[in-house]
Amino acid sequence: MYRPAEDTFFMADIIKNYKGNFALEVGIGSGYLTRSLCSNFDFVVGTDINFDSIVYAKSTTLYNYRNKLLICTSLGSALKFKFDLIISNPPYLPNDPQGIGFEDNAVYGGKEGIEFTLQFLNSIPPLIKENGKILLLRSSLSNIKKMDNLIGECFYQQRVLARKNLFFESLEIVELAGIKNSTTSDVHKN
Ligand SMILES: C[S@@+](CC[C@H](N)C(=O)[O-])C[C@H]1O[C@@H](n2cnc3c(N)ncnc32)[C@H](O)[C@@H]1O
Repeated sequence: MYRPAEDTFFMADIIKNYKGNFALEVGIGSGYLTRSLCSNFDFVVGTDINFDSIVYAKSTTLYNYRNKLLICTSLGSALKFKFDLIISNPPYLPNDPQGIGFEDNAVYGGKEGIEFTLQFLNSIPPLIKENGKILLLRSSLSNIKKMDNLIGECFYQQRVLARKNLFFESLEIVELAGIKNSTTSDVHKN
């Protein structure tokens, strides 16, 4: 299970400014960010592919929060609902070319580091309200240019809200809004 780290705290600093009715976090890890959402939203859904994350978050981090639903599933594929806010601190590192750690889907997001994120974006249209927003964390180590091209085809608005320089990479939090056309989702398929 992914323990809260620098990227988690960076994201937490941003999401505390968002309030509303319904929020979704994809890839909850320990549930640290989900807990912050629970304080500011009426109801929060959290998903993770890792069953241990769901069990841990349910029994510790989110134990005292009644306004949440945690589901072990890939992305938001088990859901048929529209949210005001969808967030993800996804696995964003490019796969290790030597194959070491390749299996760790908590941190490695695919060959260029963006493959998971593209699938995430592809899954968004049926899950977001018309005026809803998406918050996404990404790393300079991944293929940001390619991601931006695809984002530009599918969203009207893209804003970089914050940037943080670490020793070997810089992290960005991006806010997306205004889906152009929900049928463009094939663009994101790998
Ligand atoms: C970088 S960690 C972030 C965890 C937590 N949100 C945080 O900020 O500390 C990415 C998380 O995404 C989860 N994940 C990976 N693939 C997934 C998928 N297909 N669907 C849902 N969650 C996934 C991992 O299990 C991991 O918990």
